[in-house]
Amino acid sequence: MTYRLLITSGPTQEPIDAVRFIGNRSSGRLGAALADAAANRGIDVTLLNGAGAREPSNARVRVIPFRTTADLESRLSEEVPQTDVLVMAAAVSDYRPRASDQTLTGKRRRKGENMVLELEPTPDLLAGCKSMRRDGHCFVGFALEPREELMTSAQAKLKRKGLDLIVANPLETMDADTIEATLIAADGPMAASPRSTDGPIPKTQFADWLLDAVTEHTQHMMTNAAHD
Ligand code: CTP
Repeated sequence: MTYRLLITSGPTQEPIDAVRFIGNRSSGRLGAALADAAANRGIDVTLLNGAGAREPSNARVRVIPFRTTADLESRLSEEVPQTDVLVMAAAVSDYRPRASDQTLTGKRRRKGENMVLELEPTPDLLAGCKSMRRDGHCFVGFALEPREELMTSAQAKLKRKGLDLIVANPLETMDADTIEATLIAADGPMAASPRSTDGPIPKTQFADWLLDAVTEHTQHMMTNAAHD
């Protein structure tokens, strides 16, 4: 089965001034691995890739870079209507320095006293994608959580953001080579990712497993949409 896949991956960077930013430790390993795995299967893949994130190796992946949450938001508004499946693996900042702060385009100088940086909340991009949703669209989110709250928080995000699937993974996944996660579907079923004898599996192997599950779910949704 073939479909169009849109993946977001890597960190956002929110400028503090012309040369500094607020970022996070997302490496983009999983997004790049997923894009490669999909392109290897002949799926039409677009990767919205954060600054400094791992690049895919398959030349058939269409890569569009982004830096800020606002950049990513505008790329999503162009690309989501053109896709069948959205996998939102990017680590999006929840706050950014206020847009009205005049120093964002200059350089903040060192001063002796403490500095207060006023932050404003960013929009929830994934929740915002709901307005672009059409029949057959499949939206997949990630929930990066402390282990104690992993499943309850992931279930709450799945509902709040109107997703079809969510990948619940513990905080240790960020910037790691390996991953252990649970995939939760809005209609109930849950599946734990495979483990090797040494523990969590490499992200490249996880990407293939996740792609199988997403493809199966998408096929089901597209068939239902065609029969409605
Ligand atoms: N996400 C998003 N826009 C944001 C923040 C997150 O689209 N401003 C997406 C992420 O790409 C991910 C999902 O929402 O697919 C969950 O991200 P996460 O950081 O776990 O959750 P938050 O919504 O940021 O909630 P909290 O910070 O309270 O955990």
